[in-house]
Amino acid sequence: MSTPQHPIQLQGVSLESIAHEFGTPVYVYDGEKIVSQIKSLQSAFATVPLKIKYATKALSNISILKLVKKAGEGVDAVSIEEVRICMQAGFAASEIMYTPSGVNFREVKEAVELGVMINLDSIPLMEEFGERYGNTMPACIRINPHIMAGGNAKISVGHIQSKFGISIQQLPEILEVVKKFEIKIVGLHVHTGSDILDAEIFLRGGNVLFDAAMNFPDLTFLDFGGGFKVAYKSGDPATDIAEVGTKVSVAFHTFCEKYGRELELWLEPGKFLVSESGYLVVESNVVKKTPQITFVGVDSGLNHLIRPMMYDAFHDVYNLSNPEGDLKPYNVVGYICETDTLAKDRMLATVTKGDLLVFKNAGAYGISMSSNYNSRLRPAEVLVWEGKAHLIRKREEFEDLIKNQVVLDI
Ligand code: LLP
Repeated sequence: MSTPQHPIQLQGVSLESIAHEFGTPVYVYDGEKIVSQIKSLQSAFATVPLKIKYATKALSNISILKLVKKAGEGVDAVSIEEVRICMQAGFAASEIMYTPSGVNFREVKEAVELGVMINLDSIPLMEEFGERYGNTMPACIRINPHIMAGGNAKISVGHIQSKFGISIQQLPEILEVVKKFEIKIVGLHVHTGSDILDAEIFLRGGNVLFDAAMNFPDLTFLDFGGGFKVAYKSGDPATDIAEVGTKVSVAFHTFCEKYGRELELWLEPGKFLVSESGYLVVESNVVKKTPQITFVGVDSGLNHLIRPMMYDAFHDVYNLSNPEGDLKPYNVVGYICETDTLAKDRMLATVTKGDLLVFKNAGAYGISMSSNYNSRLRPAEVLVWEGKAHLIRKREEFEDLIKNQVVLDI
């Protein structure tokens, strides 16, 4: 069930007016919300030297990255392309952490040449890195803490069978490689997954880091990763960030005393910073009654928002055009030619052809996971900032779709 419908305004600008100005489908972001999420993390961790490294992959539009930069925080990148996008947004190499997963060493080299710190994710990578750079490039190690956590199996990445990080059981091997090549390890990292509700999980991850840290004398930071759960529907539980902040900070202070020095505490939130800031506004193309279900077919689909089909994710949806209409049950479906359910069994204010619908919580892993499947074009992106709607990515055009194709003369 959706909660009662209401018009949605961002900083006094209505989503409807944005849809009329820029067309649909369109992703709209509330810049103020992103800044307020950053501030709430900063205040939850006010007693420790906190550094936020925003997980670029959640939403990598350069204008969004600039907001993070403006708030004085840094970024985590997972590809050399993300590193470059962050640099385009104005981040200095020293503000970027590169956390690759099984990439070609060429990418690592490129990042090192740009001056970016590498988060080493495997023993072979440590060896290659050590052989080439010895103690000349400070680095971080991604530890797999063997913790099963996260909203579902696809986004749980800290367990023993996950490809990510170096198993904490391999600590003796890690230490051997560090010693052999005299690698200067300045940080240790864990990231156990996404949609993690419970503060205890962050503490458990922290405890793994605290124990391992005693073997590394040159540390300057510990990185607790991201994964805070946001509420996807009203009444949904969300990570209590104040609780995580208090508990983790207390444990961190105790650790720093034992370690003998105050370190920085890094976090890599993606969803927490941008999920709720984002809205996907679409138009209803058809209302189709079948013997059992009334479908609303919209001008979007899993090519723009894959989370419902990929993770069974729930995104609240409202009828912007007829907010006061009688509530009726619908399945909202995309136009992609395979099962493409965006929202199932939802009570929406009566929908007719041409109505504007909005999906909430579409800021994180929305456009960043979008594709051209079915040869469809990607939507425009709009950022509401200082009370005005700004276009921050043009809608794709047919030409964009085919520009890299090399057509044979046959
Ligand atoms: N740090 C690292 C190393 C990560 O791999 C991730 C996300 C994050 C931080 C940020 O996690 P967040 O705070 O956003 O939960 N596409 C999925 C989520 C995949 C997350 C992948 N890694 C989804 O839409 O639910």
